[in-house]
Amino acid sequence: MIYVTRRAAFSASHRLYNPQLSSEENIALFDKCANEMGHGHNYVLEVTVAGEPDEKSGYVIDLKKLKEILKREILDKVDHKHLNHDVEFLRGVIPTAENVAKAFWRVLQPHITDGKLYSIRLHETENNAVEYRG
Ligand code: NI
Repeated sequence: MIYVTRRAAFSASHRLYNPQLSSEENIALFDKCANEMGHGHNYVLEVTVAGEPDEKSGYVIDLKKLKEILKREILDKVDHKHLNHDVEFLRGVIPTAENVAKAFWRVLQPHITDGKLYSIRLHETENNAVEYRG
């Protein structure tokens, strides 16, 4: 099995806030991440596809094709956007890195037809990352 990874960076803002909790409870839970007007991150997304290389091309997935899928399905929708307000597939979701990674999986999986989607790794800061494997 070969694992092929494409990396992409984007910038977005978000607010961690659970509307079912009071203001005080949100601040206790999310601290400054609950800031009313949100705050920004420079995210790094790493998408890994697993499979056997195709006999004709030698590719698991053509990285040009994966790049285009990421641009069309994810980056065009989240880059320079507010994740709480601007992104249809994140409606009603608290946009933690965990939940965003799961949402990216749901969006991408049907489009990965060469090899299989193996993992979504989302770095929210230089020090913090989450990984989702379905
Ligand atoms: Ni944040």
